[in-house]
Amino acid sequence: MVDMNFVSRTLWTGDNLDILRGMNSETVDLMYLDPPFNSNRTYSAPVGSRAAGAAFKDTWTLSDLDVAWMGLIADEEPAIANLLNTSSLTHGKGMQSYLTMMAVRLLEMRRVLKPTGSIYLHCDPTASHYLKILMDAIWGQGNFRNELVWHFPDNFQGNVKRFANNHNIIFFYAAAPFTFNHVRIPLDKPRKRGGRIWSKELGKVVPERGPDGKPVYRTYYDKKADDVWTIGQSSVTNPQSKERVGYPTQKPLALLERIIEASSNEGDMVLDPFCGCATACVAAENLGRQWVGIDLSEKAVELVNIRLADTMGSLFHNRLVTARTDIPRRTDIDSPKNYRKNKHVLYGQQEGRCGGCRTGFEFRHMEVDHIIPQARGGTDHVENLQLLCGHCNRIKGVRPQEYLAARLHEMGVAI
Ligand SMILES: C[S@@+](CC[C@H](N)C(=O)[O-])C[C@H]1O[C@@H](n2cnc3c(N)ncnc32)[C@H](O)[C@@H]1O
Ligand SMILES: [Zn+2]
Repeated sequence: MVDMNFVSRTLWTGDNLDILRGMNSETVDLMYLDPPFNSNRTYSAPVGSRAAGAAFKDTWTLSDLDVAWMGLIADEEPAIANLLNTSSLTHGKGMQSYLTMMAVRLLEMRRVLKPTGSIYLHCDPTASHYLKILMDAIWGQGNFRNELVWHFPDNFQGNVKRFANNHNIIFFYAAAPFTFNHVRIPLDKPRKRGGRIWSKELGKVVPERGPDGKPVYRTYYDKKADDVWTIGQSSVTNPQSKERVGYPTQKPLALLERIIEASSNEGDMVLDPFCGCATACVAAENLGRQWVGIDLSEKAVELVNIRLADTMGSLFHNRLVTARTDIPRRTDIDSPKNYRKNKHVLYGQQEGRCGGCRTGFEFRHMEVDHIIPQARGGTDHVENLQLLCGHCNRIKGVRPQEYLAARLHEMGVAI
């Protein structure tokens, strides 16, 4: 039995890093994420549209927090740390900062995805080349399945001195065994082709023959979808379209439905940690899947309610969707009754040094601290505990470890 500490049809408002950290491990079958692309823009919805008020930042600068994250990643994932450093040499600190933001979240997603699950990362050429390497490092290069090209020929860019940018990239990773249902799409015009059948004796596909021994011709109206998906954008950009809610960067339902159909079965759990106006959630609902969405913007909750009411008509009533802003508490790890009992173990592990400033202290001067604060979903488990000297513990307070590291860095303490 999967031990889930959240229910289907939950929309969380908040930073997905905090919320992912609070979700039990191996609880999700399919993840789709469409994060900001590092496009150096701030998106906002047109005034008067249903999504007015929604805005999110898509520019990144290397802050103290990133410096601290880099330190944490360097310890545990040296390949990723190298990639992050390289990106700053070729693309500058903005790219490094963006990829660091993504890396810490993808590592948490890896824990939450079931071993049989699939993940789809939606991005564009601004950062797709780095994101692919990051995904290889996190999910294993052998688990890479497809680079999907979402082509939207109905996007007009006016007089630009280059070819129009009319595609996005979606990376698909899954470790075997995973669910995969071939999706069939209509052909532009029907095609007549010699039939083919599977021959048991020969163990291969052979031309199909009629009773008279002559080849059989069949008319085909559809084919298996390949890795280039032409799906127009007008359903989400045309002001006349019923589907359009006016949320910046809204994606077509048809795109999400294809992903969900291919990589999940009815009843499976779908998570979109950057859900925007909750397109993935609505698509999952339409296809009978369970779903959870997370977004920083409160608009997501409002819009998904409107969208589901539109889709489900009289069957819908507001209480169907659980809106949460709290951070879930993991229930899949046993919490020792008294976490302070771990003080001796930690003192040994840390060889008597403070987890912040790294200075050696006597046992009695050390204090037990939650690395991820309890208020942010951190547990009493020994893996989330450390010893700090009184000074470092005072600086950190109930804030996360990155904060302490950033402050110590600021103060010139080598860590
Ligand atoms: C490209 S949009 C997603 C659009 C979505 N696919 C749709 O169809 O509406 C990216 C979203 O990520 C959200 N976001 C950015 N950083 C976030 C974070 N740390 N936690 C949760 N959401 C975040 C933004 O508010 C924005 O809605
Ligand atoms: Zn200290």
